[in-house]
Amino acid sequence: MPGQPIILSTWSLGRRANAVGWEVLSAGGSALDAVERACIAIDADPGVDSVGLGGLPDASGRVSLDGCIMLSPRRCAGVCFVREHNYPVSIARRVMEHTHHVLLAGSGADEFASREGFERCDLLTDEARKVWQKWKTDPAQLTGERYRGWLPPRNVEERRGVEGEGPGDDKQRIAADESLPHNRRHDTVGVLAIDAAGVMAGACSTSGMAFKVPGRVGDSPIIGCGLYVDPRFGAAVATGTGELLMRTCGTFLAVELMRSGRSPAQAATQVIERIIESCDIVDDHQVGLITLNPQGQWASAALRPGFRVAIRSSERDELEPASRVLLNGGEATGSLL
Ligand code: GLY
Repeated sequence: MPGQPIILSTWSLGRRANAVGWEVLSAGGSALDAVERACIAIDADPGVDSVGLGGLPDASGRVSLDGCIMLSPRRCAGVCFVREHNYPVSIARRVMEHTHHVLLAGSGADEFASREGFERCDLLTDEARKVWQKWKTDPAQLTGERYRGWLPPRNVEERRGVEGEGPGDDKQRIAADESLPHNRRHDTVGVLAIDAAGVMAGACSTSGMAFKVPGRVGDSPIIGCGLYVDPRFGAAVATGTGELLMRTCGTFLAVELMRSGRSPAQAATQVIERIIESCDIVDDHQVGLITLNPQGQWASAALRPGFRVAIRSSERDELEPASRVLLNGGEATGSLL
């Protein structure tokens, strides 16, 4: 059913992603091209340290990228633990279009990317290396809670504030966290779009948790965890602590809830509720979710304050906070131990 094009992306960097995707949609291009190009724009920016080139490395100092792209259960793919190429969403698109597989990992994914003509590149920038070196020597990381859980910052916008706005909600954490660079930092770029022909698509890309255990893969390349699209019922994309989304198949659950008649707002909220019920939530955890139905109605929900959604359509070009935040006071439900 043809409709009004729309593109939705995670975080304040999503406005830049949307600007690139909107160029495609407003020229009559496909939702698939729009979400891919939106992710490429952020992956190419070495100043964004949670995706693509310039992403913060794992504990051993190596960057690994994850991402996926999806039109429907028949047409979707992801790549994970990519260490020698940028643009995981574009590599995933080639997996979707040129193979019968859904997920390629590690050196196999890198070899596939090279065969597909992607250029090898060193993903670790000098800036990211310096942050990692500082993290390695920070005694708090070696003795404190975060070391036991290998946990990264909960999310950056809470710590650094949002473009054009004041600081985030947790000034003590900002002050305490001097190992982090002072440029703005964000989590997964996740994008959902509907084009003028009414086709829906989604993509997401990440370098995963900063300083993760080498080998760790999160939700972003896994269909049904970081992203799910079923053109009959809706789409969902997620950002934040991948382990919580993997434990609950968060985006698949969101689309299933829309399939059973829930609105995008109800679906997004119920996924966050399920995460709280099913997982031990600690202070550093955050999840943000965007849901979209085939009619173009959308919603967002988050575990904690700080998550923002960027919206672009013929009528709007805005950034807004999650419509539902389930742990407003920052409550934790579990322990790291
Ligand atoms: N959501 C990104 C990750 O956990 O890797």
